Amino acid sequence: MKVSSVVLVVITTYTWMCHAKVTSVEPPDNVTVSDLGLLGQLMILWSPPASLQNVTDCAVRYQLEYFNTYRNQWRGVRTFRTSLRAQFDLERDVQVKLRTMLRGKCTGGVERSSSTLELVWPPHLAGAVGSRVQDFSCVFHMKEYMECTWDRGPDEPPHSKHFLYYWHSGLESVAECPEYIPQSGDRKGCLFPRDTVKEFTDFNVCVNGSSPVGPIRPAYFNMQVQNYVKPGLVESVTLEAVEEGEEVVLEWRPTEGHIPPHCLEYEVMSEHTNQDGTIWTMVNVTEDTSLVLPAKQQSCARVRSHVHKYCSGSSFWSDWTQWHCLPVASIQAKVSPAMDIALICVLVASAAAMLSLCMSLWMFRKMWMKRSEQKMLNSSLFWENQQHLKLSPALSHP
Ligand SMILES: *[C@@H]1O[C@H](CO)[C@@H](O)[C@H](O)[C@H]1NC(C)=O
Ligand SMILES: *[C@@H]1O[C@H](CO)[C@@H](O)[C@H](O)[C@H]1NC(C)=O
Ligand SMILES: *[C@@H]1O[C@H](CO)[C@@H](O)[C@H](O)[C@H]1NC(C)=O
Ligand SMILES: *[C@@H]1O[C@H](CO)[C@@H](O)[C@H](O)[C@H]1NC(C)=O
Repeated sequence: MKVSSVVLVVITTYTWMCHAKVTSVEPPDNVTVSDLGLLGQLMILWSPPASLQNVTDCAVRYQLEYFNTYRNQWRGVRTFRTSLRAQFDLERDVQVKLRTMLRGKCTGGVERSSSTLELVWPPHLAGAVGSRVQDFSCVFHMKEYMECTWDRGPDEPPHSKHFLYYWHSGLESVAECPEYIPQSGDRKGCLFPRDTVKEFTDFNVCVNGSSPVGPIRPAYFNMQVQNYVKPGLVESVTLEAVEEGEEVVLEWRPTEGHIPPHCLEYEVMSEHTNQDGTIWTMVNVTEDTSLVLPAKQQSCARVRSHVHKYCSGSSFWSDWTQWHCLPVASIQAKVSPAMDIALICVLVASAAAMLSLCMSLWMFRKMWMKRSEQKMLNSSLFWENQQHLKLSPALSHP
């Protein structure tokens, strides 16, 4: 058995060696990059090397590596096809490494690969570098609408106008911003209603613009919208003492909206005041919608939520709820900065109101006094006149 299989291998190898026509393998030919016009989707195309045109008894594969600028690393694929579609950052170089791999009768059963072609295509960008928008950021509020905003570039020409274009896999072609956020004749952002975005796929954005002196440098962004979710305020928060008085229970409801409740995680911050006045803080993270906290002289708690990492790569925290305190009587002691400001405003407003009331009272009094003085003067004049009148006849007819 053993001998016969060895013989078989020898014969097979010998036959392959006889048929082996290919001694050197060339890298692929005519490599080109084609922009699909979808704000970052490029097609890399190549053709088999001319030397392999007539080779039929070997499998030709290609190894393609491209630099993923978003992750700052090379990605590689092996394929029988002669094209590859991938997402690139159009503001960076497109870097590709490509080689041919051959295996079969023509190579005597061994794998042969060509040298590696290294290709770089620099970006074509209009406009000056400093005209590019900066600080672009998006928040997908409660998964109901997404708000993206930007700041002007540092060297932006005056009287510029910005445009936002976007694309995702549910669209055949690029679309313009559904609702711009205006700012003194220009735009500073875009609002996307829920039905215009798509989760778990590339969401490509381009912010470009025009000005009287030429185009503004376009800025390209690639994102997954589910990573930009910010839940709304946690609702119906209650803090109640448990009968024994040792503990308090904080309870709440997830916000209404399109985030599945099982995707929410909560952070509870509580502040406890001991009998001796010392204060300590505790932070707990939970997937439940209630938390048992120790009951102290005073216990205050607030809660916020974000999307759990099982449901998205990242997420924003919602705003904090107001503080809820027990015992309730001392709720005054625990006001948030926003409440503080509101309180100051109210105080200032009431002080102003008091002041104006005092002023008007004082003025009213002054006027009244003036009037009564006038009256007295008038009446005395009248009296004097009367006297004159009475006296005059006596004077004229002495
Ligand atoms: C490469 O492109 C040129 C010009 O378009 C064409 O003549 C040639 O046949 C191509 N080579 C291969 C191997 O397809
Ligand atoms: C492939 O075959 C064609 C026709 O038989 C011939 O003209 C051509 O030169 C061959 N190409 C190579 C690379 O051997
Ligand atoms: C902005 O980009 C879009 C999409 O690529 C393009 O159609 C439009 O002409 C560009 N506008 C300007 C002012 O460059
Ligand atoms: C809350 O966190 C504290 C530590 O920060 C921990 O001791 C306590 O057990 C947690 N409470 C609950 C209910 O998980």
